[in-house]
Amino acid sequence: MKKIIECMEAVIKDAFTASGYDEKFARVNVSNRPDLCEYQCNGAMAAAKTYKKAPIMIANDVVEKIKESDMFSQADAVNPGFINLKLNPEFLASYLNDMQADADLSVEKAESPKTIIIDYGGPNVAKPLHVGHLRSAIIGESLKRMGRFLGHKVIGDVHLGDWGLQMGLIITELKKRSPELVYFDASYEGEYPAEAPFTVSELEEIYPTASGKSKEDEDYRNEALEATLELQQGRRGYRALWRHIMEVSVADLKKNYEKLHVDFDLWKGEADADPYIPDMVAYLKDNGYAYLDQGALVVDVKEESDAKEIPPCMILKSDGASLYNTTDLATIVQRMEDYHPDEMIYVVDKRQELHFIQVFRCAKKAKLTEENTGLAFVGFGTMNGKDGKPFKTREGGVMRLERLINEINEEMYKKIVENRSVKGDDAKKTAEMVGLSAIKYGDLSNQASKDYVFDVERFTSFEGNTGPYILYTIVRIKSILERYREEGGNPEKGTILQAANASEKALMLELSRFNSVIAPAFEEKAPHKICSYIYDLANAFNSFYHETKILSEENEAQKTSWIRLLVLARDVLETCIDLLGFEAPERM
Ligand code: ARG
Repeated sequence: MKKIIECMEAVIKDAFTASGYDEKFARVNVSNRPDLCEYQCNGAMAAAKTYKKAPIMIANDVVEKIKESDMFSQADAVNPGFINLKLNPEFLASYLNDMQADADLSVEKAESPKTIIIDYGGPNVAKPLHVGHLRSAIIGESLKRMGRFLGHKVIGDVHLGDWGLQMGLIITELKKRSPELVYFDASYEGEYPAEAPFTVSELEEIYPTASGKSKEDEDYRNEALEATLELQQGRRGYRALWRHIMEVSVADLKKNYEKLHVDFDLWKGEADADPYIPDMVAYLKDNGYAYLDQGALVVDVKEESDAKEIPPCMILKSDGASLYNTTDLATIVQRMEDYHPDEMIYVVDKRQELHFIQVFRCAKKAKLTEENTGLAFVGFGTMNGKDGKPFKTREGGVMRLERLINEINEEMYKKIVENRSVKGDDAKKTAEMVGLSAIKYGDLSNQASKDYVFDVERFTSFEGNTGPYILYTIVRIKSILERYREEGGNPEKGTILQAANASEKALMLELSRFNSVIAPAFEEKAPHKICSYIYDLANAFNSFYHETKILSEENEAQKTSWIRLLVLARDVLETCIDLLGFEAPERM
């Protein structure tokens, strides 16, 4: 279905041409003076220069022709040359009826669907998830859902941090604690036990202990580095331990992501890229992309236009160990082989931007991807506390994700039991749904690249630009529809009539914009655009609701029309929150 602006522009274009002006001036925008008009065209001002005529004369000519069409109920030429427009309410109603009849609510699928890999989540194995990983999970999940909704083939990859020093640290600490374990016997050739020699809670204690020791004790650190290298070089016992760490840790991660309604197609990680490294290194050397600099293997990636110095991309350290760059480049090679994506999108903390500049440039320069393979970095800002510093627990420690979710859910539970009609188990479930909306909407409503303040009180409020407010609006619609059903009505049938009053028309105008929001939001990788759209839509709905007695309306056709409008509003809102990664309860 054509976007509503395109429908308008078609008429305005004809009007410009019919009056002897170029149609390129026929751009239509949402009005920034809603008190005067709904849409406006400022093309006469631009055309004035070309035709050496007063803009108001051009606007007058064009308006004359616009009036011949029945798309607008009002078209005025206003000094100095604006064209103010109001849509014909009949046209608007018929547009919404078409939209309602369309399975995708009028959103067009991509003409040439792309294969897109989204690299998000990025947790580090054996380290508990903390709030720093929350943003990546939330933003990435939303982008994945948006891409799919638009018809692309989107593959979500968690890209585990499972190959670095943290593995060597854990192995070293385990060795100190239980040197008798068979994993440390280098001459052992038999099978290793199927059970891990630790639980996830032990693992979560082992890692920080080891990490703390390595910072104070250089010998300890060197041992851990050595263990990391031995693991990477394939020492059997260490590999077996590594598999245990992975099993235990991944099971726990999956549990956590499930709570967030975040789901990955691929559970690959840095370690999966390891087998690709030797060939890639040889290729980079043989083709003259990489050279030795003080023993380390590097690729130059600076460009003339760089405002600041971009250091070379280091591929191997002088001891031959691979780095974060190396696994990311090898992962690109692996992804090209396995999926041949048109684009790879990385949702990672913006402080890693330099790393991705180096990796992307190196990949392009060395032709590890195709020339037009997209490599995009969606760098997000920090989630801060009210003090403007990275979000912490009340005691000042690192906030674990699980704890944050629990705290929000408790807060929500209190509110729901206090103010609403849901009780017991139902209240707990509802609290979880509303809690998730508070966290996700609180995050996604900010432009990803900006830091933001995670304000529990504000995010969990049922008023203002929050997830709970959006859910509350949806629940309100659902409960009206439920009552209508109880009275014997069928909300799935009937026609939307032209607006009966201003607040209804405002709601209809918001609904008709739906299909102009999603595709650009995805192109710009900007879920916050969906948030601001549904906030406007929810406000428009609530104004309409407060002014309209829907269920007591006596004119049947009018009542049906309003019910149909409610169904459409519910469907658009629910589609949007699904794209953001949460859902609405039936009651709250
Ligand atoms: N594990 C990394 C971290 O916690 C994030 C991984 C991001 N993805 C990537 N392909 N480098 O910082």
